[in-house]
Amino acid sequence: DNGVGRTPPMGWNSWNTFFCNINESLIRGMADAMVSSGMRDAGYQYVVVDDCWMNPNRDASGNLQGDPSRFPSGMKALGDYIHARGLKFGIYQVPLDRTCAQYSGSYPGATGALGHEAQDARQFAAWGVDYLKYDWCSPTGTISEQVATFAKMRDALAATGRPILYSINPNSFHAKTGPQRDWGDVANIWRTTEDITLAWDTGQSNGYPMGVKNIVDVTVPLAGYARPGAFNDPDMMEVGRGTLTDTEQRSHFALWAMMAAPLIAGNDLRSMSAATQTILKNPRLIAINQDTLGRQGVQVAGDANQRVLAKRLANGDVAVALFNQSASTRTISTTAAAIGKTGASSYSLVDAWTGATTTTSGTISASVPSHGTIVYRVSGGTTGDPTTPPSSSLVSAASGRCLDVPNSTTANGTQPVIWDCNGAAN
Ligand code: GLA
Repeated sequence: DNGVGRTPPMGWNSWNTFFCNINESLIRGMADAMVSSGMRDAGYQYVVVDDCWMNPNRDASGNLQGDPSRFPSGMKALGDYIHARGLKFGIYQVPLDRTCAQYSGSYPGATGALGHEAQDARQFAAWGVDYLKYDWCSPTGTISEQVATFAKMRDALAATGRPILYSINPNSFHAKTGPQRDWGDVANIWRTTEDITLAWDTGQSNGYPMGVKNIVDVTVPLAGYARPGAFNDPDMMEVGRGTLTDTEQRSHFALWAMMAAPLIAGNDLRSMSAATQTILKNPRLIAINQDTLGRQGVQVAGDANQRVLAKRLANGDVAVALFNQSASTRTISTTAAAIGKTGASSYSLVDAWTGATTTTSGTISASVPSHGTIVYRVSGGTTGDPTTPPSSSLVSAASGRCLDVPNSTTANGTQPVIWDCNGAAN
């Protein structure tokens, strides 16, 4: 509750395309491209400089400095350049001794914030930093030690008086603690998985590296944690970087929008195809993502082949996503009632991709290509909270009730029900 990140942050980050190969002219070029491409006007704000920006040595007073050959004008000047274009400045640091690139030996130094938390926070504020990505990068530390360590920087940032969006990753080189708790007491956004890569499905459940589909599998059950100021972060986007089909890239963006995920582009903004721009600047999906209610889409139905996600919106509309994760085209159907819409004889559906409007008396259905996602914004009637029905494996076949004991068809069971049966979010 530091006042920032009331809706998921939108921006660009250097890592997915450039990894360690960054310098000030690249970042400036990207800020310029954010403006000239219309990305800024579409809502993208933060220009985030990831790992490998730092001088491997702190100065004589222990202050962080930009690497003198990569950022000869200094980090304050870079922040000024970004701000002058109506954008915000993001930077990367770690809580222990070494950044991930330093830990893996691909960048020199050990410039982590350990023992320098307040000093680094003050330095970032003085440079005009608006967004800090703070990355664990170590196999050490229990989850409670991680909470305490991440909270140290939360408090140091607060003490600067500058509103700085706080983004954490507890998973790097570490057991995957991201999905194990609601980190909204510590940070504005928290990574749920290992790093994304340019792939649809790497077969990983939560290991390095993750495909788009694998990240969706981990992040969908965490919907209950999302709220204004606190969002699950399924990692930066791979849209516009090739390899994924156009359908998969659209799905990736639509699902991130529905999951109230940070929309942090990871492609080269200076050379975007028309197809990439159509995806990243889709105004209807951005509006769904940026909705002020801050809800993450809840899975109202799903199996190995398909998922139906419903995201309640501030004006009473509900966005519904029909996601086909199978290998062939499928017709995916749900109902207005299943997504929380009742009380009207007709509902209107706006297709988020085409903008076309149709009406329905209740059935919401589409033929969806393999790996595709169709999204409708549904209005009409009254709105309730969409919920996830109990997973069928936990429902008593005899009574239809969840964990019902002794499994009678007529009487309630005798055991206290201690689960709501929705799976991981328990
Ligand atoms: C970790 C993070 C990535 C990136 C790199 C930088 O792997 O998860 O997003 O920041 O570190 O080294």
